[in-house]
Amino acid sequence: MPAVVIVGAQWGDEGKGKVVDIFARHADIVVRYQGGNNAGHTLVVDGQKTVLHLVPSGVLHGAKVCVIGNGVVVDPAVLIAEIDQLRQRGFLLQDDLLKISDRANLIMPYHRAIDLARERVRGEGRIGTTGRGIGPTYEDKMARIGIRFADFCDEATFTEVLQRILKEKNSYLRAILKEKALDFDAIQAEYRGYRERLAPYVTDTGVYLHGALRQSRRVLLEGAQGTMLDVDHGTYPFVTSSNTVAGGACSGSGIAPHDISAVIGIVKAYTTRVGSGPFPTELLDDLGKKLRQDGDEFGATTGRPRRCGWFDAVVVRTAVRLNGMSGLALTKLDVLTGFETIRICTAYEYAGQRLEDFPASAAVLHGLKPVYEELPGWQEPLHGARSLRDLPANARAYVRRLEEVTATPMIMVSVGAGRDQTILLRNPFE
Ligand code: GDP
Ligand code: IMO
Ligand code: MG
Repeated sequence: MPAVVIVGAQWGDEGKGKVVDIFARHADIVVRYQGGNNAGHTLVVDGQKTVLHLVPSGVLHGAKVCVIGNGVVVDPAVLIAEIDQLRQRGFLLQDDLLKISDRANLIMPYHRAIDLARERVRGEGRIGTTGRGIGPTYEDKMARIGIRFADFCDEATFTEVLQRILKEKNSYLRAILKEKALDFDAIQAEYRGYRERLAPYVTDTGVYLHGALRQSRRVLLEGAQGTMLDVDHGTYPFVTSSNTVAGGACSGSGIAPHDISAVIGIVKAYTTRVGSGPFPTELLDDLGKKLRQDGDEFGATTGRPRRCGWFDAVVVRTAVRLNGMSGLALTKLDVLTGFETIRICTAYEYAGQRLEDFPASAAVLHGLKPVYEELPGWQEPLHGARSLRDLPANARAYVRRLEEVTATPMIMVSVGAGRDQTILLRNPFE
């Protein structure tokens, strides 16, 4: 009864979509367990690019069951649009291929309005959120005033709850954020349409997953964002509002910890981050520009340019520790072609002291200096490599060094966005 968790080891956009699509071949069920449509997971299959925001990245295999777990926050309009696009292409044609947890919280129009208005008010101090209403929805969940699918599906309950909550949200929007109030009838009508479309998918996914695991079905749990965006362990307050670490896979899916057989970390061969916040190895020079250009580092959700920098082993070691990662999947190694030398940050220096662990304090984070080691680069394109032997010696040495500095073996190396541009070293379910 194996369940494997996939977690981003950096600040998101590590290539989780591609890796989940590859590993999904060995799975029966793929589950999203946290985040919402702040995520943008890209899959390139037979040259066709698909960006998924809510539907799990196993969907392009056709017969895998996709589950949106209780820990996810769901914007119904976005989910419906995604389902429609996938159905047009011949996926999700049977309703039982998609299941939405009856305990997942809905993103409401006031959540988006509050997210956007708060960012505007923060000005220079903004977090750089995706503006999708993620933070305000999780706040309401914790404040116990969220709307869950189970209650959304019952129109009378939904109406009563919405009436009560909208009053509070509208006074906040008007008085504090200087925004317009939202209209109850309009939301009611809009969400009635969503209810009709989504109700057939809503079920107790915790019960479903438990039963599936007891029948030895293989479950792949697809994390969104990355460890450094975790609300507890990341670069707070420049984080997202959920627990992105592997622990969140249990609370966000209803699967018990003893059912998790492995946690695999996804790491980019360098580092990127979208939005504001500390980023010790960021490159603000031409090398950073080269990474952005060669890696096509523009957000899959918002289109924003991603900040780029060298591989940070302090970050990845922290992720290995927090998630219990037993293996790593390395992505975008091909993007490092063409550098004379490549750097790896192995520790930080702060006030004359060497730091081996990622600090919590914002003041320390702003003042620290990365300690780098340098490796020779390579000039050969890597897209055609299908085994480690196909890589130039310097690229192989870089991969080996990453395994050493993170004390974790690579189970996959990705050398291009395409499904086939992959060196698979181990099946995570075995
Ligand atoms: P995710 O959020 O972790 O799923 O990652 P994104 O999809 O947001 O960003 C990763 C980007 O890198 C996407 O455009 C992928 O198609 C692309 N990608 C994934 N793996 C590779 C790789 O090995 N090489 C290159 N060049 N691109 C890759
Ligand atoms: P995937 O799953 C990268 C970032 C935002 C912002 C911060 C908070 O594609 O890796 P939010 O809207 O969540 O309140 O924004 O988190 N962020 C991501 N960065 N990849 C993501 O998802 C992200 N989801 C949120 O840019 O800095
Ligand atoms: Mg992404």
